[in-house]
Amino acid sequence: MKKLFAVALMSLAASAWGADAPPKYQTSCFACHMSGAAGAPKTGDTAAWEERMAKGMDALVASVKNGLNGMPPTGLCADCTDEEYKALIEFMAAPQ
Ligand code: HEC
Repeated sequence: MKKLFAVALMSLAASAWGADAPPKYQTSCFACHMSGAAGAPKTGDTAAWEERMAKGMDALVASVKNGLNGMPPTGLCADCTDEEYKALIEFMAAPQ
């Protein structure tokens, strides 16, 4: 019974975060981009992300690496590669 409950909880958590979130999302970007803390564009808010995407992907990856206002350099993912940043940004910009 306990085990069943744990499985149910896990699947609930997975659906709340989106089934296909990149693996590092929950330990980094999620902290701010899920709630919109400090003015972060929210995950799945396509209108907010459209303005950001207009800068071009390279500029966005540079913003994450260097930090931008309320966002600390690396966005709390010190070991993310450029490819991982791109996947995370694409995930957050897509409708959930
Ligand atoms: C500590 C909170 C925090 C974390 C963690 C965080 N962000 Fe952000 N992010 C922000 C805030 C706040 C902004 C809005 C900055 C502004 O425009 O003033 C932002 C903006 C952005 C932008 C738009 C940059 C631009 O040039 O307009 C991108 C892209 C982004 N974040 C990606 C990420 C990624 C990828 C991660 C995870 C690796 C991440 N963020 C983690 C707070 C955070």
